[in-house]
Amino acid sequence: MAVDIAIDLGTSNTRMYMSGKGKFVDEPSVVTINLDNDDIVAVGSEAYSMIGRTSARLSSIEPIAAGVISDFYLVENMIRAQLGKANLSRVVKPRVVACIPGEITDVEKRAVVNSVLSIGVRSVSLIEAAKAAAIGAGIDIRSPHGRLVLDMGGGTTDIAVISLGDISASRSLKVGGNNFDEEIIKYVRRKYNLIIGRVTAAKAKLEIGSVIKPEEDKIYVVKGRNTVTGLPQAVELHGEELYEILAETAMTVAAQIRDVLEEAPPELVGDIYRDGITLTGGGVLLNGFDKLIEQTAKLAAHIADSPMDCVINGCGASLKYIGQAEIDENGAVNPLSMPY
Ligand SMILES: Nc1ncnc2c1ncn2[C@@H]1O[C@H](COP(=O)(O)OP(=O)(O)OP(=O)(O)O)[C@@H](O)[C@H]1O
Ligand SMILES: [Mg+2]
Repeated sequence: MAVDIAIDLGTSNTRMYMSGKGKFVDEPSVVTINLDNDDIVAVGSEAYSMIGRTSARLSSIEPIAAGVISDFYLVENMIRAQLGKANLSRVVKPRVVACIPGEITDVEKRAVVNSVLSIGVRSVSLIEAAKAAAIGAGIDIRSPHGRLVLDMGGGTTDIAVISLGDISASRSLKVGGNNFDEEIIKYVRRKYNLIIGRVTAAKAKLEIGSVIKPEEDKIYVVKGRNTVTGLPQAVELHGEELYEILAETAMTVAAQIRDVLEEAPPELVGDIYRDGITLTGGGVLLNGFDKLIEQTAKLAAHIADSPMDCVINGCGASLKYIGQAEIDENGAVNPLSMPY
């Protein structure tokens, strides 16, 4: 039987969905290559476990940066390896819906289209991340009622007001959950002269990170290399000391919500003040993120169920719009681009 496929090439995670089945791939967007001959050694979880631990010959690379493809060859191979798990028919090629950030250049868009087409699919239609996130969060985006969504992934944040299938005001930022990790790395280096790796910083964020003042002081021990002595060293990090630097990054994102609302039609803003904002993506799971949004945007904030799956589930649910009319009988816009 013919199946269609949805693909979310995220900065942190690659997710794939098959019509009639649901999500079948959810793995880090990482590829390990052999630098001698460019051979792909590992992809996904296996490659992630090698980050910062590879030898001189092997290198683990994240080929998607801030939501856009930075290495075409690696992305193509990564998609091929992950899609291989679907055991697709060689006869009937799948149609694909792929998700893109709200603001990318035509060249970046083309790179997504070409990398998917290169593995031999029938067609590719694109959907903006915010629309997919809203659909995946259970929102009827084709209704005239206005809804506000914020999807924060690893490298991007998309904020959008949506009604009648279309985006009426939006911001797409090159800031995501990974920026919190980077702030932790910078802070630990500045304060303790200690160099820690990305994976360690991400773990510290998950264990003790918060963007609101923590109620109890949690401690996480990070290990790295002292920049002065060059020797290994361990340092106790306190949740209290991370909170301020993390809150600063979260505030830059929260501040954009007001700008989006200022550009949205008043009727839709009225709807949004009643319903609040829906939060999706892994980045919104950082402790206190929803509270900080409520305080700065003066809106009720709800984290969607399974927030990290909203975009891929929304892409999957939108497979049904492939080939449908651009505008339906109720005036709602087809959320997908024309197929490439
Ligand atoms: N419990 C958690 N607390 C804080 N951050 C988290 C948590 N779980 C995941 N994250 C962060 O969520 C991010 C990954 O989210 P997600 O998988 O939605 O991103 P992505 O879709 O790959 O990226 P993007 O949409 O930006 O291209 C990472 O920065 C990760 O550290
Ligand atoms: Mg994402």
